[in-house]
Amino acid sequence: MPDIFFPSDAIKNQAHITEDEYNRLYAESLGDPEAFWDRVARTELEWFSPWEMVLDWQYPQYKWFVGGKLNITHNCLDRHVNGINKYKKAFIHIDEEGVETSVTYMELLERVNRCANALRSLGVAKGDRVVLYMPLVIEQVVVMLACARIGAVHSVVFAGLSDKALRERIVDSEAKVVITANWTKRRGKKIDLKGVVGRATEGLDTVQSIVVLVRDGDACELHTKEVNFDDIVAKQSAVCVPVPMDSEDPLFVLYTSGSTGKPKGIVHTTGGYSVYTHYTTKIVFDLKDNDTYWCTADPGWITGHSYVVYGPLSIGATSLLVEGAPDYPKPDRWWEIIAKYHVNIFYTSPTAIRLLRKHGEQYVSPHDLSSLRVLGTVGEPISEEVWGWFYERIGKGRCVLIDTWWQTETGGHMIVSLPSLPQKPGIAGRPFFGIEADVVDVQGTRLRDGEKGLLVIRKPWPSALRTCWNDEERFEQYWSEIKGVYCAGDLAIRDSDGYIKIIGRSDDVINISGHRIGTAEAESAIGTHPAVAEVAVIAKSHEIKGQAIKAFVVLKSGHSESDQLRNEIKLQVKSEIGSYAVPEEVVFVPTLPKTRSGKIMRRVLRAQESGEDVGDLSTIED
Ligand code: WTA
Repeated sequence: MPDIFFPSDAIKNQAHITEDEYNRLYAESLGDPEAFWDRVARTELEWFSPWEMVLDWQYPQYKWFVGGKLNITHNCLDRHVNGINKYKKAFIHIDEEGVETSVTYMELLERVNRCANALRSLGVAKGDRVVLYMPLVIEQVVVMLACARIGAVHSVVFAGLSDKALRERIVDSEAKVVITANWTKRRGKKIDLKGVVGRATEGLDTVQSIVVLVRDGDACELHTKEVNFDDIVAKQSAVCVPVPMDSEDPLFVLYTSGSTGKPKGIVHTTGGYSVYTHYTTKIVFDLKDNDTYWCTADPGWITGHSYVVYGPLSIGATSLLVEGAPDYPKPDRWWEIIAKYHVNIFYTSPTAIRLLRKHGEQYVSPHDLSSLRVLGTVGEPISEEVWGWFYERIGKGRCVLIDTWWQTETGGHMIVSLPSLPQKPGIAGRPFFGIEADVVDVQGTRLRDGEKGLLVIRKPWPSALRTCWNDEERFEQYWSEIKGVYCAGDLAIRDSDGYIKIIGRSDDVINISGHRIGTAEAESAIGTHPAVAEVAVIAKSHEIKGQAIKAFVVLKSGHSESDQLRNEIKLQVKSEIGSYAVPEEVVFVPTLPKTRSGKIMRRVLRAQESGEDVGDLSTIED
């Protein structure tokens, strides 16, 4: 396969940003980031009142658009309803059976307003936290926007996390209200979400109400604190004036795994996040007015926040929301949807592509995928082989394939291959405007092209995380691990054209199907099983998921290894965290390799797993 692909003239000539413009604007954006973002923020969004200062950087804290007032829902909804997009479809929802429901910008605004008024009727005010544990339905977006409308801080928890993981997040964020649905469906099976929320909130006085979306008019018994979503929303007025938010007022908290056992609540604020997600959606996807856009992520993760909800709505796009698995009820479900809805921009993950590729060519070829123009991936490195398949078989060699590297913490795309620039398979691309990315050693010294090192960002950007909820110290670690710069926790290599290839995590975080899970988190989940004395987990490579967990378990005396115990340990992880974190393999060992000071040497386990030399063992205890 060639190591570089050039976009077609048709794509290049129509792109919002040409290659020359990228080079010029990128240089400008680094030379004077404040002037650059000032211009973008003024021309792209509507503000209730302007800012006095673009960036106030008092290391390690930073504020963007200081003193500016806006409401992200005004830019996502009212602005379009007041303009030509009033009757344009905002979302088309497709459920597992293929049943379609859609909503226009005007209808969405009314629904958001009613929901915002309903939240107020439950006592939710600006600054209060609301936790969502919902399926991928239009109401999930409505609730997120309703929170933003009144200044409440939403914290969306992916509806596949266990009751314990949900409880941990509700407790940490001190949520006043939790919103859920009676069920979601996965591969034809109904999953009881309300039951999970019931267990997660048992005895929690901080939670005042639980709002339940009762789907399909099913019978649903409501307990104390529980209220019916439709009932409370129906009573409300369809008018709700958006609360003027300060640029730096928090918009949401989203929990993600780090290298300690406890997930951290990443806090994003209003102004910078609005500007950055709007602008990256427009430029990176090259979104045009008539496009149909589909990002397959769930709003339970950052990709859903930035590129299902806020970015596309701010642009005024028509997006698909597709509930359920990519290959259920049929392996060609996604290709059928692209053909039926004439999707132009399709953004997904390498793990989904690997899954669909495995089903075989015969599921792709019958479908007319000629509407596609831009393909995108996110979440983990994409191998050249998978890149090639996506480019040739789905894009038919006509589309651009953009890789996008970013994180929950970064809020938006950081390293990308813009549609008008040459693409290099398996290499994420070049930094977005204003992003001064570099590859350095542990001391922070810049490495030469081609050398592997730590990926850092030298200056704050508008959608950078502002803090970790109730944990300023963990926030400061991002900017102090290598003094003065943001350390992403990824390993990367820069080539002589300034393209950056992402190798993988540099810390103890495993990437399973694009989802982050800390080894410490998995180990503490396994450690809760009564038979487990000690445990160490490492990543092993997995054909579909990219990485999976392999657990080495030392049993307490009196217990002996068995398949039943192995299954119990897997179930323990499911109930502590969620099914995505369940170890692929559990092996029982008599001891773990440790240093003389008692630290587990995962490096030795990893080397053994990959058949590499285990290296220097002089510090090992036994
Ligand atoms: C990894 C997801 C290679 C990376 C938006 C990062 C990637 C972590 C890519 C963040 C990519 C994300 N190429 N690796 N295009 N995108 N990653 O917070 O290790 O769920 O640090 O955000 O995923 O995961 P998160």
